[in-house]
Amino acid sequence: MQTKQEVNIGLLGLGVVGSCVAHVLLEKKDSLAEQSGGPLILRKVAEKRSVELEPGLLTQNAEEILTDPQIDIVIEVIGGEHPATEYIRQAITNGKHVVTANKEVIAKHGYELFSLAKEHNVELRYEASVGSGIPLISSFQQGLAANDISAIYAILNGTTNYILTRMAQEKLDFPVALKQAQELGYAESDPSNDIEGIDTVYKLAILANLAFHIKLDPQEIYCEGISHLAAQDFHYAEEFGYVIKLLAIAKRYGNTIEARVHPVFLPKDSQLAKVDGVYNAIQAEGDLAGKLLFYGEGAGGMRASSAIVADVLTIVRNNRLGITATPETGINQELIVKPMADVETRYYFRLDVADRPGVLAQISKVLGDNSISISSVIQKESDRAAQAAEIVIMTHPARENAVQKAVEQLKLVTVVNEVSSFIRVEE
Ligand code: HSE
Repeated sequence: MQTKQEVNIGLLGLGVVGSCVAHVLLEKKDSLAEQSGGPLILRKVAEKRSVELEPGLLTQNAEEILTDPQIDIVIEVIGGEHPATEYIRQAITNGKHVVTANKEVIAKHGYELFSLAKEHNVELRYEASVGSGIPLISSFQQGLAANDISAIYAILNGTTNYILTRMAQEKLDFPVALKQAQELGYAESDPSNDIEGIDTVYKLAILANLAFHIKLDPQEIYCEGISHLAAQDFHYAEEFGYVIKLLAIAKRYGNTIEARVHPVFLPKDSQLAKVDGVYNAIQAEGDLAGKLLFYGEGAGGMRASSAIVADVLTIVRNNRLGITATPETGINQELIVKPMADVETRYYFRLDVADRPGVLAQISKVLGDNSISISSVIQKESDRAAQAAEIVIMTHPARENAVQKAVEQLKLVTVVNEVSSFIRVEE
C-alpha cells in the first residue's frame, strides 16, 4: 500500500452506518484524495441483504473482501460479537488494516486483536466504537498521552439518556418513556443492551483500558441498568436538587481502579447533569490537562462515519510516511479492580412503609446497625386508606456491602412493605 497511489477499501456491512460511510467515501472523494495523497476507492461491499448498488461492488460473501489481495483496508460495521470478531481476525492475519465501530469486539477481544495487529504490522483503529463521532480514542491515545488520568465520568448511551431525560421532564414511568423512544426510533425493538447498561459497559471498558493502561474485562465492571427506575425517583431527585443519569465511572485510587455503570443522582448544577436527550458527554480528569469535557451526539450513521473515515485517513497518511501505528498493548499490571462491595458512595432509598408510630425508628435501627448514617429523610403520606407512606432517605457515604445487607434486612421488617428503590449518589 505504501507505494501505491490508490487505496482500496472493503466494507463489511451496509446498514445505517455502512451506508453513511459509503456515501461519505463517494461524496467527499476529491477532498479525501487530496488529504490522503491518492484516491480512496470503495472496492467491495459485503452485505447479506439485497441492496441496490453498482454492479460488481456488492457481495454477500465477506470472504471475498477478507481474502482479496487488492483490498488494503477493511471497515467492519456489522456490529455484534460474531462473526465480526472472526472477520477482523482474518483481515488482520491477511495483512489488512482494519477500522471498526464495534465496541463489543474491542471491549471483549481488543487486547488479543491489538497483539495480532502488531504481529502482522497493520493498524486496527476503533474511534467510532465509543461516543461515535466524538474524538475520544485519539484524544486518550495522543492528546492526553502525557497525563495520569485519575477519573472518567461519562454518559455513553444516547438511548438511555433520552429515556431518562423524558422521565425527568415529564415524570413518565420507564415503560412509557421506553415506548415513546421506540416510536421515535431512538430505542431499538430489543432495547436490552442499551437499557440494561451493557452497551455502556463495553464503552467504559474501552476508555478505561486506554486511560489507565490496563486490561479490564467488561465482566469486571459492575453493571446496573435503568429499567427499575420509577417516576417518583425523578420527583424526589428534583426535590433534593439532583437529576438521575446512567453514568459510566472509572476512577483510580493509587493501585486500585473503580469501574461501574449504574444510575446515579447527580447534583443538578454539575455539567453532566445538563447533558440531555441523545447526547453523550465524557468528563476526564488528567494531572496535566485538568478537567476536560467532551460532548456530542454519540450515535447515528453520519456521526460514526466521521470517526470511521478519519481512521481510514490516519492509516493512509501513516502508510504514506512509512509508519504503521500498531495499537498500544502495554499494561499497568499492578492495578487491581476494586470489588463493588467495597465501593463507598452516598445513597438514596425509597421505601413503601406502614404509616404508624415507630416505623422510622425501626428503619433507622437497621441502617445504624449496618453503619449507615442518615443525612436527611422525607416522608409522604401516599395512601391514607391503606395507612401506607413513602419514606425517602439520603445517607452519608456508606459501603456498598453494608447497603446491600441493610436492604435485605429492611425487606424483613414487617412495617416495610417494599424497598422500592435505592440509587447511588455521585457528588
Ligand atoms: N445504542 C447506542 C446509544 C449507540 O444509544 O448510544 C451506539 O453505540
